[in-house]
Amino acid sequence: MNENKKRFEALLTETGRQGVGNVLAELAAVGFHEAPASTRFHGAYPGGLLEHSLKVYEEAMLIRDAQLRLKPDVAARLPSDSIAIVALLHDVCKADIYNPVQKRKKNAAGAWESYNGYGVDYSGFPLGHGEKSVIRLLRWGLEMKDDEIIAIRWHMSGFDLAFQSPEILNNYGAASDKCPLLAVLRAADGLASHILGT
Ligand SMILES: [Fe+2]
Ligand SMILES: [Fe+2]
Repeated sequence: MNENKKRFEALLTETGRQGVGNVLAELAAVGFHEAPASTRFHGAYPGGLLEHSLKVYEEAMLIRDAQLRLKPDVAARLPSDSIAIVALLHDVCKADIYNPVQKRKKNAAGAWESYNGYGVDYSGFPLGHGEKSVIRLLRWGLEMKDDEIIAIRWHMSGFDLAFQSPEILNNYGAASDKCPLLAVLRAADGLASHILGT
């Protein structure tokens, strides 16, 4: 078993959370461990999604430690098992949407050449992003706390919010006020993608 997969499974198993065993079996069945993290933005290679999830976990734990130094009483709202659940599982919605395709681009000499890339197909279970991850995890029998559901549902923040109804914007605002775990996941996801590059 590759090292990333081993670590991912060990961290989730350590949470002791009901349903983790089934989640791991379902993730294997939908191809989570081989999936890329995007078509071209970050982690666009086999295993990229698994690597991204682990990087978000590392970032989230560092952010948690920093917040606890600044505000020790937030510890109760940022338990380490919740960090593992939301960081490692926030993007399970992506496990089955990318397909390997041949793409074409111009090389340095200006000639067209083909390369292995990814296309995207949302038709399997077209629900959205964070909400698809949450619904899949609940269906797979994972025991989830309210904060974990809220954090995964809203982790895309600005990317999901353009042209949304006032009700959705109000829900997002309430989620941000109520759930420090959402702030940690949002920051960790952005740092993993834009600084670590996966
Ligand atoms: Fe995401
Ligand atoms: Fe992500």
